[in-house]
Amino acid sequence: MSREKKSGRPRVIVTRKLPDAIETRMAELFDVRLNLSDNALTADQLKEAVREADVLVPTVTDDIGADVLAEAGDQLKLIANFGAGVDHIDLAAAHKAGLSVTNTPGVLTEDTADLTMALILAVPRRLFEAEKLLRDGDWDGWCPTFMMGHRLGGKRLGIIGMGRIGQAVARRAKAFGIAVHYHNRSRLPESVETELEATYWDDLDTMLSRMDVVSVNCPLTKDTHHLLNADRLQRLQPHAVVVNTARGEVIDETALADLIEVGRIAGAGLDVFENEPTINPKLLKLDNVVLIPHMGSATLESRTAMGEKVLINIRTFMDGHRPPDRVMTKLVG
Ligand code: 8YV
Repeated sequence: MSREKKSGRPRVIVTRKLPDAIETRMAELFDVRLNLSDNALTADQLKEAVREADVLVPTVTDDIGADVLAEAGDQLKLIANFGAGVDHIDLAAAHKAGLSVTNTPGVLTEDTADLTMALILAVPRRLFEAEKLLRDGDWDGWCPTFMMGHRLGGKRLGIIGMGRIGQAVARRAKAFGIAVHYHNRSRLPESVETELEATYWDDLDTMLSRMDVVSVNCPLTKDTHHLLNADRLQRLQPHAVVVNTARGEVIDETALADLIEVGRIAGAGLDVFENEPTINPKLLKLDNVVLIPHMGSATLESRTAMGEKVLINIRTFMDGHRPPDRVMTKLVG
């Protein structure tokens, strides 16, 4: 049975500015409240939104905790997240309140993997450090020992989290002649391991001690919070590099900065941070760390496709069907 309200179109509240084409289509389909000024909503504004919306479309910048969900009116039925990660939503509280939650997996995989690969290349080859030096007017000309970094071909990449994005990173790494290793909750089918020439490590600690580069590509859950804590980071070899395009909280950022500062880890490439948009001042002081502002899926193509998924999830749900990207509590721990 359709969930469409007799009174008309569902009221959809979108918390951030979305690509124009998506906003236009939302306005055609729904009684939509957009956020054209793009200021992140406060906790009070989020509470007001769940009191009024039939469907809430939040993003990673919205903390949809139990306190916000406790304010939800009976009319709220669906949280259609714009983004794949749902760690900012208290799924257990949402499901307990009878709400459905959807996300936007798949469409941002390749772009996020491209950006991960860019960081994997940028740190050992000192790209940003070199670019800054040149712009600062400090380049005196070519010399045989200037800006030497390290070769990636023939090295070992350890991927933590071998879902869609992890596998897309593995395909790129393989093309660069990098040996792919991985740790995952469950081992991949043999056919996929063979295709990716990937070696599975059940024991994360042992994998870490053998890698040249480590890439974090797992979701943030209660099990992966500070998965790379000080103890685990100390298992890395001193020439190892850490890359994170997943969620900042998977790594103990202060421990990472401290170990890089004393030369126990060679460097890091980070797209995500523990307290976004605040950046740990310890990281800012380090030359061999590349810091970029959470832009893994920041292409017009990905962001438009994410918006399309949000539209499809809402429409399917409102038509009384199971939306394609329903998120279940058990999947995210
Ligand atoms: C998004 C992301 O930009 O999809 C995700 O989980 O981390 C990013 O690619 C962001 O989450 C949008 O809400």
